[in-house]
Amino acid sequence: MNDKQLVAIQAAHQVKDGMTVGLGTGSTANYFIQELARRHQEEGLRITAAASSVVSAIKAQELGLPLVAIEHLGKLDLYVDGADEVTTRMTLLKGRGYDLVREKLLARGSDQFIVLIDKSKLVGRIGEKFPIPVEVMPFAWQLVKSRLQALGAHAELRQNAAKDGWAITSHGSLVLDLTFDSHTDDETLNQQLNDIPGVVEHGIFHDIATAIFVADNGKVEE
Ligand code: 5RP
Repeated sequence: MNDKQLVAIQAAHQVKDGMTVGLGTGSTANYFIQELARRHQEEGLRITAAASSVVSAIKAQELGLPLVAIEHLGKLDLYVDGADEVTTRMTLLKGRGYDLVREKLLARGSDQFIVLIDKSKLVGRIGEKFPIPVEVMPFAWQLVKSRLQALGAHAELRQNAAKDGWAITSHGSLVLDLTFDSHTDDETLNQQLNDIPGVVEHGIFHDIATAIFVADNGKVEE
């Protein structure tokens, strides 16, 4: 069993009968979905699930988890997802899969948000290893890019996987990937990005996670 699987199984055992559970996106979230489906089938665990992406929805459906559309949810009991970077202050960077809006919506709408990572994802500051993704309304991208440059960012429009066009999110936004020559405090940058008109959502998840499960060579720390 690898480390991603290990944390995912541990998180799936936090789920209690009757809970409404948000399903994250990515390889770690997939292991969580698998274990949740196993518990649902074999242990009779009753849950309602909401997916943060089409990919996770299809996986959950294939494995027989009862799904509810996000528009029917007033709140969730638990949201479980991976992350690309996590600081000691529990600020996260997410969004390599670029379904940021649904991920943050479910994370914010949940009583608990458990983040699943291996030790390699712990960083001193957000943006240390990966660019910071900013989802923008298509017609706003140039004006948003200028505002981001004024904050000291290099902003590159993300290309699609085939590199023959731009990446488009599931609700039609573009993505600007940001890098900085000098570091701005994560909390300040989070607020600055929140304040730019035309930004739909961004990859800094500040003050949202309630627990981080960290796997390190076969052991899990909370
Ligand atoms: C998707 C995400 C993922 O949770 C993050 O990229 C981690 O992925 P993985 O579990 O495959 O390492 O934020 O938007």
